[in-house]
Amino acid sequence: MCGIIGYIGKQNAAPILIEGLKRLEYRGYDSAGLAIVSQVGGKNGSSIVAVKSVGRVANLENKVSEQLEGVVGIAHTRWATHGKPCDRNSHPHSDCNGKIWLAHNGIIENYQELKDILIRKKHVFKSETDSEVIAHLIEEFGKKYDFKKSVLESLKLLRGTYGLAIIHRDEPNKMIVARLGSPLVIGVGSNENVIASDVSAIIRHTDQVVYLEDGEVAVITPDNYEVFSVKNRAVSKEVTKLDWSIEKAQKHGFDHFMLKEIFEQPETIQNATRGRLVVPEGRAKLGGLRHVADQLRGIEKIVIVSCGTSYYAGLVGEYMLEEYAGIPVEVEYASEFRYRKPILNDKVAVLAISQSGETADTLAAIREAKEKGALTLGIVNTVGSTIARETDAGTYNHAGPEIGVASTKAFTSQLSVFVLLTLMLGRQRGMSFVMGQRIATEMAKIPKQIEKMLKTSKDIKKIAKKYLKYQNFLYMGRKYNYPIALEGSLKIKEIAYVHAEGYPSGEMKHGPIALIDKNFPSIFVTPKDSVYEKNLSGMQEIKARGGKIIAIATEGDKAIQKIADDVIYIPKTLEMLTPLLSVIPLQLLAYYVGVGRGYDVDKPRNLAKSVTVE
Ligand code: AGP
Ligand code: GLU
Repeated sequence: MCGIIGYIGKQNAAPILIEGLKRLEYRGYDSAGLAIVSQVGGKNGSSIVAVKSVGRVANLENKVSEQLEGVVGIAHTRWATHGKPCDRNSHPHSDCNGKIWLAHNGIIENYQELKDILIRKKHVFKSETDSEVIAHLIEEFGKKYDFKKSVLESLKLLRGTYGLAIIHRDEPNKMIVARLGSPLVIGVGSNENVIASDVSAIIRHTDQVVYLEDGEVAVITPDNYEVFSVKNRAVSKEVTKLDWSIEKAQKHGFDHFMLKEIFEQPETIQNATRGRLVVPEGRAKLGGLRHVADQLRGIEKIVIVSCGTSYYAGLVGEYMLEEYAGIPVEVEYASEFRYRKPILNDKVAVLAISQSGETADTLAAIREAKEKGALTLGIVNTVGSTIARETDAGTYNHAGPEIGVASTKAFTSQLSVFVLLTLMLGRQRGMSFVMGQRIATEMAKIPKQIEKMLKTSKDIKKIAKKYLKYQNFLYMGRKYNYPIALEGSLKIKEIAYVHAEGYPSGEMKHGPIALIDKNFPSIFVTPKDSVYEKNLSGMQEIKARGGKIIAIATEGDKAIQKIADDVIYIPKTLEMLTPLLSVIPLQLLAYYVGVGRGYDVDKPRNLAKSVTVE
C-alpha cells in the first residue's frame, strides 16, 4: 500500500524521515506521520514523540518542531484502507501508554476480532484503523515476553498483509521490522541503518541493501541487523549493491508506473479478494455491504454509473450479474445519466464505479440517484473519497494508489469486485453451491494465471513493434469481451494517441467493416467461449478484405493461427472470468505501442488521473 521509512544511528532522525517520506510521495497517499525516540537516557528515561498530519508531507513537516531531537524514528505515508484519512488515523500508532509505536503498510483482515479481544482486556484504542491492533497486541504479549518475542507472538496472530516498523520506549537502541505481503528493505550504513518500503528512500544514505522476504523479521540496531523467521529461526541474508537511480527505484525497476502497475495485477487482484472470496463455501463476503444486505435482497434492478475505464468495468459487471445473479442491470455513462430523467425508486440500486472516487460526473450521478430515493453503492479504490463517503454502502478495491493516468490494476480489481458481488448476490438469489464454488475456485486461480501471462510480455512487445506504424485499429469482442474490446481501444487511444474503435464483433457488418483494408488492422478478443465460432467468422470476413488481425485466444487453440496474423494466448478459464485475462495483453500492447512511438505513457497529453471537473 504506502510508504514506511525508519532510521537508527547517530544523526538527528526527524529531517532524515521527512526527506525519506518525500521520496515515497510518488506512491500516492492521503496522510503522514512520524515517531521519534527522544531524550534517550534523560531524567525520565526515553520518551517517544509522535507527530501526524492528514494531507501532504509538507503539512507534517510544518508541524514537526525544529527542537525534536532523537536518533531513532519511524515514519509513514498512509493510503487509507480502514478509517478515513485524518490526523487520528494517521500512522504511527501506539499501544495504550505510548510505549510502543509502529508504522504499518497493508491490511489486517482479522483486526476486528483481535480488537474485540483486546478491548475486553481493557485496551483503549485511539484510531479506527486495523493497524493499531498490532501495537496493542505487542503490549499485551509484552506483559510476559521481551520486545522481540512479543512482536513475534503478535505476528503469529495476524491474518492479512503487513510491512511493519516498530520502536519501543524502553529499548531505545532497537527497531524491529517485519514483512508479509508489503515490501521492506534494510539500507546498511556505517553506524546507522535505514529501513524503507523501497530503495528510493534509502539510496541517498547507502547503496548496500538487504531485501526482506515475506515471513521475515529483523532486529536492527545502529551498527547491526539480525534477520529471523516468525518462528525465531535465524535467516542469513545477502547484501545487494544498488545501481538504480531514485527515479528507477520508485518504479521498482520498471521504466514506467503504468508497466509497474500492469505487473502488480496478480497482487492487486489478491488484495481485492483477500478475506472476501470463500472458496470452500462458493460464496463471497463483502463487509462494506453487510448493513444493506437485506435491502439488496429486495433490489429489482441495478443501474451502474461510471466513466471511461470504470464504465467498461461496469459493462463486464452487467454480463456477470445478469447471467449469474439474475438481476436486471443497466450501465450508464455518468455524464449522460445525470442529465436524463432516470426512473428510479427504492427497488433500484445505483452503483458507482470509480478508482479515484472523485470523478465529477459519477459523483453528480450518485447525488441525483439519492435525490430519487435509490440505494447508492460504490466500488471505489480511494478510501475516504467523496463517492465512497456519499454512497450508502460499498466495497474498496484495495488496489493501492494507481499512479499511471491510464487505469490498469484498478480495472482488474474492479472486475474482481464484480465477481465477488455476483457471487454474493447470486448465492442470495438461487445460484447453486456447485456453481458458486466453481466460480470461486476459478477466480482464485486468476492471479497465478496472470503471473504466467506476464512472463510472455516480451512477445507482445515484438507484436507491438510490427504495428507501430498503423494509425487506426478496430477492436472487437463479444459478450464478456465486448467491454474488453472497448477498454483495449481506450488504452491505445489514451497513451499512443492512435485512433482505435471498439465494437461488438456482431456490429462489424453494420458499417465498421467498410474501414478495413491492409492499413487498418483489427484486434479480435476471441477466447474459446460460447460465441467463439461467431468471432471466427467475423475474422474470416476481415481477412477476406485484406485486414491484418491480432487475436487474443485461449491456450491450445491452433485453428486461430490459420486466420490471424498474430495470436496472443490467455489461459483457459470460465467465460465470465476471461475479461480478467484478455485485458492484460491489450494493456501491454497499448503500453509498448505508446513507448515505441516515444510518448510519456504515465502522463499522456490532455489527460488527468482524476476528472474532478465536468
Ligand atoms: C482510464 O484509463 C482513464 N484514466 C479514465 O477513463 C478513467 O477511467 C475515468 O476518468 C474514470 O475515472 P475514475 O475511475 O477515477 O472515476
Ligand atoms: N491498513 C492501514 C490503514 O488503513 C495501512 C494502510 C497503508 O498501507 O497505508 O491505516
